[in-house]
This record gives sequence, structure tokens and C-alpha cells, in this order.
Amino acid sequence: MKESEIKKYYKQKINEIKNHNKYYFEESSPKISDKDYDDLKKEIFNLEKKYSYLKSTSSPSNSLGYTPSKNFVKSDHRVKMLSLSNAFNLKDLESFEKKIFNYLNKKIELEYSVEPKIDGISASLTYKNGLLVMGTSRGDGTSGEVITENLKTINDIPLKITNKDFPKDIDIRGEVFIEKDDFNNIKNNFANPRNAASGSLRQKNPLETKKIPLKFVAYTYGYFESNKIKKQSDFLSSLKKWGFKINEHNKVIKTVKDLESFHKKFENDRFDLKYDVDGLVYKINNLDLQNRLGFTANSPRWAIAHKFSANSAYSIIKDINIQVGRTGALTPVARIKPVNIGGVVVSNATLHNEDEIIRKDIRLGDTVKVERAGDVIPHVVLVDLKKRKKESKKFVFPKKCPCGFDTIKEFNKVTKKYDAVKRCPDRGFECEKIAVEKIKHFISKEALNIDGLGKKVVENFWNLKLIRYPQDIFNLDYAKISKLEGWGDLSVSNLKYSIDQSKKVSLDRFIYSIGIRHIGIENAKLLAEYTKSITNFLNLIKNKKFNEFLNIDGIGETQINSLKKFFENKSNYKIIEKLSSILNISDLKLNKDGKLLNNTFMFTGKLSNMSRAEAKSLIEENSGSVVSAVNKKLKYLIIGEKPTNRKVQQARELGIKILSQKEWLNLLN
Ligand code: IVH
Repeated sequence: MKESEIKKYYKQKINEIKNHNKYYFEESSPKISDKDYDDLKKEIFNLEKKYSYLKSTSSPSNSLGYTPSKNFVKSDHRVKMLSLSNAFNLKDLESFEKKIFNYLNKKIELEYSVEPKIDGISASLTYKNGLLVMGTSRGDGTSGEVITENLKTINDIPLKITNKDFPKDIDIRGEVFIEKDDFNNIKNNFANPRNAASGSLRQKNPLETKKIPLKFVAYTYGYFESNKIKKQSDFLSSLKKWGFKINEHNKVIKTVKDLESFHKKFENDRFDLKYDVDGLVYKINNLDLQNRLGFTANSPRWAIAHKFSANSAYSIIKDINIQVGRTGALTPVARIKPVNIGGVVVSNATLHNEDEIIRKDIRLGDTVKVERAGDVIPHVVLVDLKKRKKESKKFVFPKKCPCGFDTIKEFNKVTKKYDAVKRCPDRGFECEKIAVEKIKHFISKEALNIDGLGKKVVENFWNLKLIRYPQDIFNLDYAKISKLEGWGDLSVSNLKYSIDQSKKVSLDRFIYSIGIRHIGIENAKLLAEYTKSITNFLNLIKNKKFNEFLNIDGIGETQINSLKKFFENKSNYKIIEKLSSILNISDLKLNKDGKLLNNTFMFTGKLSNMSRAEAKSLIEENSGSVVSAVNKKLKYLIIGEKPTNRKVQQARELGIKILSQKEWLNLLN
């Protein structure tokens, strides 16, 4: 057969298998026997083996049977599944401990449960009266996909637990992963073991999941009815007693110094393990203390992942592109010859900014060392000058943004220096590059979280002129979309559904989604708590009362200037107004049945054994609120050590009740 004929034949087989996948997985009505299906798959594999030029993204060699389903039912986690913040060195660890001491307002001896961080994907298992009733993926942390049947195929997961002391109602959480040898045996073109685990776990058909030897180790809990256990290390022992696998290298360690030396040793030994480990997790061992410390927006204050250091490899720079970020920053990115670094194929590496290119004298065609550490974007570390070609020329950084605007460098008032980063002056949606990034941010997980409208889709819709502004998302031409390649009736109706769902959004998420520089999730939350409703927020903006935001603890001049600059642009304001008419923006969900409802508090002076932040959370958890000025709205002034006399005086004059820390805590008990 001629090459063209072989290609044609191959394409035909690929189409066949695509159709059968659809019958089987989407419509649940197979048209051929399992044996015929396997034969078809084998034929495709053999063709690919024989003729290396045959490739297709739809080939079964690129996936297990079928692409992971988008159609799993979702379920809200009873307790959110958060991620961990990362530490890369001793300094990070020390600052992690320092933050804990600051929060507690006291230095105490800490004890850590140290656990290897297996690089898989997390799952939550709900047991009621000893029976596994539901299993979910992490999803976006708030809600996950119900993958009970798939999880049940994993041998390490007990279906029934009969121990007397096993909690009546509990979510057990842990990691699903695949061992290195097993991964090597299923040569299925997955980039790494983690992808293989994730792909097989999210198969529509649990029989496909069963084919892969997945493992599970348990390490924490979500919901836990009447927990009497006092330490994480005791919880781990209980898990083992109840029949779960736990990691054999779990350990209890007391000081940062000992953590550091254990990390060093483990980092060298990890290659002998049967599975990939990308760091160690340190958790405060005392569970009461964990509860006190609580969470920031994304991660617990009581735990951190100490990553292993970078892996690196050499490659060649094929091109240097300029990427424009959401805030206008121009980032040079090297397109390199694809190279495998620690199990991940890397083809792009950041060059950070113009100054870095000059400092390292990075040029097109150079052989460079590329480093990849944990989740950090791969970056170019150095140039191998011996390999530089004679004809190579210095790289000239463009003076303009690809959109045509001249770039600027901002003056940093704190360091009294110009920033290294060149920026396109952010003129709302005028710069096309910035606009696309803004829309990507708008739909991202922590913003409107529109499933099915990923970054790639946004780019595609942008290129097809289907969207220009965020509001266009709510007025899409679905008839046109359903005719696009890769889209069908089902995917269009899924998209429609998730866009509709996203219209209901809380005020803090909405403020974050607008993508104002320096207004991240935490600050968006602060603004939302302060303004309470979208109407109030817009009124403050319209009347240019930006300085009112200075009343908010945590909002400073940087944020205010950024807000001012953003809204100076009339088109930005119009977009927000338009969006607020389309969306259903709910006020911040406040806890409305605590003991301190309708009570306002303010602190002055130093509290003992507790930071302001912890005190504030304690009040808010009990439905009260903390204000930052003494006025008629204030109900209680709580005084600690060395209070500001003026505040106490003002409070007396206004007849505001004054409480000691002890009296205040008594209100709660
Ligand atoms: S505890 C709130 N313990 O790391 C803390 N996580 O970035 C939740 N992981 O999504 C996680 N080993 O997939 C915890 N011993 C361990 C872990 C572990 C691996 C993963 C897990 C999680 C991610 C956090």
C-alpha cells in the first residue's frame, strides 16, 4: 500500500473507533461486541507501531478508551477540599512558623505530622454507618465529581468498615495514584503517572478504571461527626486500624531544623520509592490547634507542602515570544525544543523580563539550562556559551506591545526604582491581548467558574469574534458554535447550562472576576464585606469615594490607586454596570445564626494569646462584625494591653460598652 492509502485506511479506523466510543460511552448502547472493539483497538495500535507517521489525537493510544467524561454529576463537599501552600527552602519554613506564632500572638513548641506528598489526585470518600456511600474528586475544591463506582474499583479502598470506633459519618480523604512500574507497563502516552491516574479515574465506564492498577493512601478527613481524636498522627494510626493504607514513611517531627534535615534525606532517597513524591507535607499535629488556626482563602494556616528542589535539563531556544498578561505585563517566553524534565514534557520556559534577558544574554538558538520546580513555571537558568553559534545576535526586546501601544515601566514608590517589567498601559479592553486575558480571568475557577469555557475555548471564540467583552459570554451565538469543529449539541447545551449557572455569583467573586490589578481574592472579599451589596459598591465607585476603602483593614494606597485607575476608564465602568444587570450578584453569605448577630466590635491594644486576625475570625464565625472606627454604629470596644486612650475616651463619650478580652470571650461561651 502507498503511504497515502495507509493514511486513509488509518483515518477510517480512527473514525470507526470514535463512533463506537460515542455509542458506548455517550449513548450507552454499544453496536459491537467487546472483543470486536478490542480487535479494532489492536489494529490501530499495530498500524501506529508499523508506520511511525500515523498519529491522531483520537487514537486509543492517546487515551484510555475514551476521553474523560465531562458529564459526571457534581456534589458539594461538606467541607471544602483546599490545596496547600508551598515552601521551597528553610526561609519559607521559618516564615510559615512565624505566621503561626503571629496568628496565635505567642511562641509555643510545635509538633508536626510529616507525610510524603504523593503526586496523584485527591479523592474524598463518604462513609455512613461503615459503608462507602459516595466518592468524589476534588473538582474546584467546593464541589467535585461523583466518581463512586470508579473509586470502588480500587483495591485499597475499603467498601465496608466494621470497627466499633469507626465514625458513623465521616469523609476520608487521600490520594489516588499509580506506581512507577505500573505506569511504565501501560505505555499509553500519558505525560506522567499523575495524568494517568486522573485520566483513568475519570472514565465514564468504571471497567476502564479497573484496568489500571490504581492505589489509594488516606491522610485526612473532611466532615467528621463528633471527632474525639486529638492528633493528626493518631488519626493516621486509626486510619490504618480501620483498614486504610497510609504512607509507610509518615513521621512526627518537632523543630524546623529537624524538618529540614529529614527533607534533605528524603529528597535523596525518594528515587527508591515505588511512586512519585514531589515533596513532604507538614501538618500541625494538634487538631485543636489546627482548628484555631483555620484557613486563608485557599489553604490551611496549619499545613504546608515542602517541595523537592528543581529538576533541570538542557534544550535549544527555537523562538522568543512576548506574552501579554491580564495586567499588561509583557513576559518574554522561550519556545524550546521539547524536553522531558522530571516526567513532564516542557516546551516553553519563561525568561521573566527584559532585564533578565540582558543579564543572562539569552539569544535565539542558544542552548540553555531549563529548570522546573514543583508547580512553578519552567524558567531558563543559564546559557551554555560554549554551544553558542558565531552568527548569533543579541535579542532586542520590543518597545511596543503587540497591540501597538508604547510600553511603560512603572516607578515603584517603595523601592524607589523603576520596575523591571515592561507593561502595556492597561486601557481597559483596548489592548486585544489584555482583553483576552481579562476574559480568561473572568471565567476562571475562583471567579465565575464557567465549566466548559476553558482558556482555549475563550481564545477560539475570541479569534472567531464571538466575544470581545465579558458580557458577550451571556449573549453567545449558540447556533454558530454548534457548527464549529469539536462542538456538538451535547457540548453546546452543557456550555449553555454552565454559563447560566455562573450568573449567580457572590459579590466577592464578582469583584475578583473584574480583574482589577492588586485586587486578588482576599482583597475582593474585604471590599465585598465592606460594601455588602453590588449597589453600594457601584455607588461608592460612581461617587468616587475611593478613600472610604481606606477604612478597611488590609486595603492600602496601592489598592486604592489601582481601583481609581481602573475606574477612570469609562469603558471599564460601563462593563461592570452591564455585567451587574445581567448577573445575579448575591450579597456576601454571612453566618446569620451566631451568638453575636447584629453586634459590632472594635479592638484597641494588644490581645493576649491571640492575634487580631484570629479575634476577627472568631467574631465573624459567630455572626458579629468588626468595624474600624469608633462611632455610633459600634456596640463594643474590646480593650487589650496598652489601648489607645483616644479611642477609649471616644467610646465613653458615645456610651459604647467597653469590654476586657476576658469579658468578650465570656460573651461567646
Ligand atoms: S492534606 C487542606 N496530606 O496535596 C489540606 N494532601 O496541595 C489538604 N497531597 O490536594 C490536603 N499528600 O492532592 C494532604 N499527606 C497529604 C498529601 C496531600 C498529597 C496532595 C493532595 C492535595 C494537595 C494539596
